Amino acid sequence: MRQFTSKELRKTWKEFYIERGHVDVGAVSLVSDGSTGVLFNVAGMQPLMPFLLGEKHPLGTRLCNVQGCVRTNDIDSVGDRSHVTFFEMMGSWSLGDYFKEERCKWSYELLTGVFGFDKDHLAATVFAGDENAPRDEEGAQFRIASGFKPENIYYLGADDNWWGLEYGPCGPDSEMFYIADVPDCGPNCGPGCSCGKYTEIGNDVFMQYEKHQDGTLTPLKQKNVDTGWGLERILAFLNGTKDVYKTDLFTDAIAFIEKSSGVKYDSDEKLTRSMRVLADHIRTSVMLIGDAAKLVPSNAGAGYVLRRLIRRAVRHARTLGMSTEQILDLAKIYIDSVYDDSYPLLAKNREFILNELDKEIARFESTLENGIKEFKKILDDKKAAGSSEIDGESAFYLYDTFGFPIELTVEMASEEGLKVDEEGFKAAMEKQKETARAATKAKGDLALSVNEIPDEVAKDSNATEYDGYDNLKCDAKVIYILKSDEEGVKVVDSASEGDDIILVTDKTVLYATMGGQIHDEGKISTAGFEADVISVDKDAQGKYLHTLKVVKGTVSTGGTVSIEVDKKNRLAIARNHTATHILLSALQKILGDHVEQAGSYVGNDRLRFDFNNSQAMTAEEIAKVEEMVNDVVLQALPVETKVLAIEDAKKLGATAIFGEKYGEVVRVVAVGGFEAPFDLEFCGGTHLTNSAQIGQFRIVSESGIAAGIRRIEAVTGERCYEMNKADRTLIDEATTALKTPKDKIVERIDALHAEVKSLEKELAEIEKAKAGSFADSAVSGAKDIGGVKAVIAACDAADAAAMRDTADKIRDKLDCGVVFLAANGGDKLLFTAMATKSAVDKGAHCGNIIKEAAKVCGGGGGGRPDMAQAGGKDVSKLADALAKAEEVLASQVNG
Ligand code: ALA
Repeated sequence: MRQFTSKELRKTWKEFYIERGHVDVGAVSLVSDGSTGVLFNVAGMQPLMPFLLGEKHPLGTRLCNVQGCVRTNDIDSVGDRSHVTFFEMMGSWSLGDYFKEERCKWSYELLTGVFGFDKDHLAATVFAGDENAPRDEEGAQFRIASGFKPENIYYLGADDNWWGLEYGPCGPDSEMFYIADVPDCGPNCGPGCSCGKYTEIGNDVFMQYEKHQDGTLTPLKQKNVDTGWGLERILAFLNGTKDVYKTDLFTDAIAFIEKSSGVKYDSDEKLTRSMRVLADHIRTSVMLIGDAAKLVPSNAGAGYVLRRLIRRAVRHARTLGMSTEQILDLAKIYIDSVYDDSYPLLAKNREFILNELDKEIARFESTLENGIKEFKKILDDKKAAGSSEIDGESAFYLYDTFGFPIELTVEMASEEGLKVDEEGFKAAMEKQKETARAATKAKGDLALSVNEIPDEVAKDSNATEYDGYDNLKCDAKVIYILKSDEEGVKVVDSASEGDDIILVTDKTVLYATMGGQIHDEGKISTAGFEADVISVDKDAQGKYLHTLKVVKGTVSTGGTVSIEVDKKNRLAIARNHTATHILLSALQKILGDHVEQAGSYVGNDRLRFDFNNSQAMTAEEIAKVEEMVNDVVLQALPVETKVLAIEDAKKLGATAIFGEKYGEVVRVVAVGGFEAPFDLEFCGGTHLTNSAQIGQFRIVSESGIAAGIRRIEAVTGERCYEMNKADRTLIDEATTALKTPKDKIVERIDALHAEVKSLEKELAEIEKAKAGSFADSAVSGAKDIGGVKAVIAACDAADAAAMRDTADKIRDKLDCGVVFLAANGGDKLLFTAMATKSAVDKGAHCGNIIKEAAKVCGGGGGGRPDMAQAGGKDVSKLADALAKAEEVLASQVNG
């Protein structure tokens, strides 16, 4: 067999197909646009789905490429010799061009002619047939005709030989294997067996069907071939190893890990596993952050997967004793040498990748440290109790408080030989959600909930016709009236004044709460009947559930009611919704294309918009975004909507919410019109017809809500005006209070600050002088008691500390003396006593003096011979306390 480097292998693959009329279509982003229901690009064919389904590809009917893919479904297997989370798929396609004959011929040529496989060691599987498609005799014949031995062709069922994503193009496939010269492991040994005799080399899929979202299959207009060979595994095989970490894609990385950790690869099973996980996860993280999508770690969707990869990598790096610096150096190996020419985007985004990795590692390390301590405690408790399982509550605690993904807890526990009650974890999570739900529900005073509607209504699949985009009023037939009694929510025939009900009609103009937008307010009435709309929800079947409070009359099933939207409220909501769209595009223009919506709330009073950005916005960025949105408002751009087939919408470049599933037909909203949109988004919400209707837009706050996720809260229209007005009133009040014109307010406040500061300084000096002169006069008035100079006096110190200062000063002026000060603190007396060393030698004891003096006025205290402080309760006894102090001192020094 010929030996290849990874760079040679990519080149060889493409050249082989280009020689056979294929065009290299290049690779696309690893991060899926969300339209296929998966987070990442998981196969080379994924970006080509529309063309496999029949759309014309601009580059023709024969295509090839090498496409990066990310699959994290078997992340737990990473750590063995062959599993990786990022891999490159070498692909080639026939879009309704050649079929099985050429496909089989070329695969054989590639295997034997180019890669040098011995034909007698090749095996292939073909589809055995089932109710969906016949047995692939034809495929088997062409494999044999190409050169495979007839005895090496195996028929297998759909589990092994049918290929397709969740939905979209699919069909029977035929895999190729290398047969090692070892005995069969048993009577059923064959391709698909994991004994090691058969190694999978590549896969040719004969795509002839489309799988729909409901699970049904229909034949495609054209017969395609989708060929995919995994680069890593073939590279390993061609170079005589089954360990992908021994190929040139990983050798530098592994050598670096060996050097940094001092651990030899393959010397210890557990540590080798850590080396592989680290090498793999950092590689995938580099690829995702450096991707065209510039993915950053977050708490949702693809960003969450990235976060898990980085955090797992860090944990294994720690096990290996590696520092953050070293993890970043490992990342540099992939960027600077392994993928320098095949993934030039990595070099371009080098600083961004390293910076994001560094930040996420720092975030994780602080969490990890605390979490690991907590984990150890739980572990010790479990071990001490003789338990071999960590309970779900504890696992949830680690998740909730320390951000430990359940997978991490499971992995760490398993390293210690313990299991984790994952069901219990789920239950604990559910319980928390339940509590949150109950709390929300408790806030409303309604006696019924849309989550409790009876089955017969819930299962009714007749969707309500929605007619509220252009109309604000309609007549509708009452289909169901729901009311609750002690036994729960029930279908009733009629309802009357005072009842809380849920009303289902055949048609409505009231928008239900969805897609972040709050429901409309409004009224439902007939002659003699009137109900206020409390909320509107849409169920899974498309029925609108109007929760109402009947304020007048009676309503009956089968009757006709008039439904009317509160126009002013609708307009307030639409202002915030259209502004949210403009805000997204403004953020992308100011902060960069990486900005995506991570969540939103559109109410009648404000809007909230969550998005990914690795750091807080600067005041300048916030101002720029606000200015840009207001500029769009002032340009009075038309807001247009169109309902389009999803493909057409995507072709227009409309932004979809990441991870959201859309139907075949979508509504697209264009702020600025479809000709020259400022913002173009998939959206079912109610919008303005012109951006000028927003009136004005104001950002109220920008804050972080999770690592890498920022939140902007903003107001529009009337709320904006009210807020501006309140600010104006505040300024007016300030000008009056400060007695200064508006434009001088800040200057005036600065001047006042300076004045206060200088007055404070002056005051302190006065106090000091006063204390000094008090001390002077106290010393001059000192009494001689048995050879000790005694200053026993009342002072007006503000607190105990000030009193101590004064006492200090007086004592320092005495050669041999005792100071006893009392101050009236309003509701209590404060005492301080101090004595010089010589006075103490003569028998003076401050602690005892103060104890006796305080006792006189209902207080207590004591202290050292040279210093004591105490308090007294009865302020009228100040003079008595002073007299007592003198008496005690006299007895001490004279006695
Ligand atoms: N799309 C096929 C696969 O991924 C070739 O195996």
